[in-house]
Amino acid sequence: MKLKIAVLAGDGIGPEVTHEATNILRAVAEFGGHEFTFVEGLIGGVAITATGGPLPQETIDTALAADAVLLGAVGDSKYGSLPPDKRPEAGLLQIRQILGGFANLRPSIAYPALANNSPLRPEITKGADILFVRELLGGLYFGIPRWWNRDTPVHCEEAINTMRYTKPEVERVAKVAFELASKRKKKVTSVDKANVLEVSQLWRAVVTEVAKSYPDVTLEHQLVDSMAMHLMNTPRSFDVVLTENLFGDILSDESGVITGSLGMLPSATIGGAVNLYEPVHGSAPDIAGTGKANPLGAILTAAMVLRHSAGLDAEADAVEKAVTTVLEAGHRTADIARNTDPAHAVVTTTQMGKLVLEALTQAL
Ligand code: NAD
Ligand code: IPM
Ligand code: MN
Repeated sequence: MKLKIAVLAGDGIGPEVTHEATNILRAVAEFGGHEFTFVEGLIGGVAITATGGPLPQETIDTALAADAVLLGAVGDSKYGSLPPDKRPEAGLLQIRQILGGFANLRPSIAYPALANNSPLRPEITKGADILFVRELLGGLYFGIPRWWNRDTPVHCEEAINTMRYTKPEVERVAKVAFELASKRKKKVTSVDKANVLEVSQLWRAVVTEVAKSYPDVTLEHQLVDSMAMHLMNTPRSFDVVLTENLFGDILSDESGVITGSLGMLPSATIGGAVNLYEPVHGSAPDIAGTGKANPLGAILTAAMVLRHSAGLDAEADAVEKAVTTVLEAGHRTADIARNTDPAHAVVTTTQMGKLVLEALTQAL
């Protein structure tokens, strides 16, 4: 099969982990006789440096002409004092909006090989397998009005963001969550703040209505504050977790604790013109350029490209199996090296990529 992939590596560790992810995709293509083409584009801080803005038109054109967009990460402290709409992150929000995917799937799995890596006890995390369905195009990120007085920001007395959802926006993402849950453990936990926010009351009412079309799936509602606690206390009790945009951003990073590192988490955004794939983590400026970045989140993101954009389910399974094999053999990047066998030296980003590639050759 043919697949045109737009690669937007971005800032910090983005290019480092994306390189390992594309190596995996190249190997899958070579093995199966598929024609994957990779077209690179600038986004984030590197785009600001090169063109003056975080999302050049050329990148938009490249992304829209592709079958899938693979993104690394954006964010650079160099541009930290710019107003929100000029920062590297604005490029990411804009490309998400342009591509149109509204359902961001963020799986969080407790790998048995990493049981001792999580700060949570193994008996708490054992068997946890959660799929966050995070609404990605609404809520506080995009609600109007949004405002601050940028002429005199230091003296500004007020700033505004708006949490807004419409019924169709909630309906379409809820349907994705229920469809996915009906193929998994048949449970949806919808997260809101309906005890305080009107927008959450709408969210809860619409999700409850959508649930009626899925009698096999159990629906529970959780308030976001206590949900943050339940997630750590009883991670095994969750299947699909449906959230609005900001709540999902926060809870999915928190769920990195279940796996043991944010660097392990992949994501896929579906429902728009072109699917967007990005690891959950950011540009990690604290470790950029040191070879410490864990590429497994990006590699597992590549597996999601194979599953959701190429229909290559067996190959996606093989990539995921290769990751498991490497972890079971004891190989660790620094972020997942807590309580590991001292006989295994900590590996670099590139070495981890190579190890997965070797395991993949066996698995394919
Ligand atoms: P971050 O995810 O970049 O890093 C948080 C912590 O996790 C850091 O200690 C980092 O070293 C570690 N970490 C993250 N990914 C890792 C990996 N693959 N391997 C090993 N360790 C890893 O979050 P932050 O520090 O809050 O944000 C840094 C920048 O990234 C900010 O500019 C932020 O806006 C941006 N960001 C971008 C994205 C994205 O592009 N999708 C996502 C989140 C944050
Ligand atoms: C993420 C990030 C982004 C978000 C930022 C960088 C815009 O934190 O993908 O989780 O908040 O969605
Ligand atoms: Mn985030």
